[in-house]
Amino acid sequence: MWPVEFRDLNPAARAMLGVSAEEFPPLVRSIEARTAARLRDGEADHLIFYILQSSRFTHRPRIEPALSAREYVEKGKIPAAAETRMRDFLKALDRPAADERLAWFRQTLAAPQRAPAYLRAQYARAMRSLYGKEFEGGAGSAWYQTRGHSSDTRIESSYALWNALAVLKARDPALRLQRVLIVGPGLDFAPRTDLIDAYPPQSYQPYAVEDALLSLGLADPARLRIHCVDINPRVVASFTKSPAHLILFREWDDPDYRQYFDRLGSAIGSARPIPNGKSLDLSRAAAARVTAAKLNVITERYDPSPGYDLIVATNVLVYFDRRELLLALANIRAMLAPGGYFIHNETRPEVEAMSSALGFPPVQGGTVRLSTGPRPLFDSFVIQQPSVHLQELRERKLLRPQSRF
Ligand SMILES: C[S@@+](CC[C@H](N)C(=O)[O-])C[C@H]1O[C@@H](n2cnc3c(N)ncnc32)[C@H](O)[C@@H]1O
Repeated sequence: MWPVEFRDLNPAARAMLGVSAEEFPPLVRSIEARTAARLRDGEADHLIFYILQSSRFTHRPRIEPALSAREYVEKGKIPAAAETRMRDFLKALDRPAADERLAWFRQTLAAPQRAPAYLRAQYARAMRSLYGKEFEGGAGSAWYQTRGHSSDTRIESSYALWNALAVLKARDPALRLQRVLIVGPGLDFAPRTDLIDAYPPQSYQPYAVEDALLSLGLADPARLRIHCVDINPRVVASFTKSPAHLILFREWDDPDYRQYFDRLGSAIGSARPIPNGKSLDLSRAAAARVTAAKLNVITERYDPSPGYDLIVATNVLVYFDRRELLLALANIRAMLAPGGYFIHNETRPEVEAMSSALGFPPVQGGTVRLSTGPRPLFDSFVIQQPSVHLQELRERKLLRPQSRF
């Protein structure tokens, strides 16, 4: 791992960043401090969402966080039901329990955090933020760029990736993507809504990408390696215990998504149906291909890089402000192999301008539908590639010259 330096940025990137060589180190330090503070807030959000929803430490009815946020903000007082759950949680911290989430809190919460005053303060902060998003129309980019870092992830975020990889396969059937980096794989731990804590926390994306690459014939089973990087130690630690199986629920009804879901996992293990989903036993080889380490993609990169054929970052760039986005893109560009691809789902217009300045413009993009009905749900993907390689593809007539995202 290597901290990024001013000299690592090309002139166009330096101009877009708008700081001098002397101003660069303090900028990096301030970004690191801001990232750490946002990670602390994000972890405290997950703690509060766990306290409101979990059935593992109390028999009291679960509380929907958004409804609790409304009651708190509109009445100006922490609801009694939330206070009671906080007390039950603090008592449970002193008892041994098999629940992995509770065990994580017992292991990581310091003494000052095991107090009603701390939980109340974090409840108030988390609920104000959630109220802004849900009831004051605050779910735009400014909200994501200032809120705590969430580790939330859902299996459906891999569907757009599968489509992006199918596009790459169609463009170049001989393509091989064997060295893969996943930035911010996330962990389904204590989401803002719909916590299901009958199962341990799980990460889906590395395994779904592995399954897609193998089933599309884009990687050889013996050579494929999937490395994940994340700022959150809880996410990184989850990969040290290879998961024996994943529990996957199919929530959306689009017929193509259903077909994707039904086939999902066949290249990495064996599945058996469960109500509304499947339980997937991962093969030993599939679990062994996935590794993880701590890295902040805004301020750090692997240098020398293994030269990744594919880098994936979905629902990660949305959290970065303009400067953070530029630095993250520069690091991702530097870690790509010459003909490698970067796939993400951030459709902010700055991404195209910055990526073009950094020499890896978007080459394809698409939208996928997850649900039907009057308000269908969509996700998107953007594929980027270093432009030197684009020229090569044009010469091989695999890409038309006017092709542009
Ligand atoms: C919202 S989750 C997305 C998970 C998954 N990619 C998905 O689409 O479902 C964002 C993840 O990115 C990680 N993350 C945020 N900022 C990061 C950074 N600067 N470097 C590396 N990981 C980061 C978070 O810790 C979290 O695990």
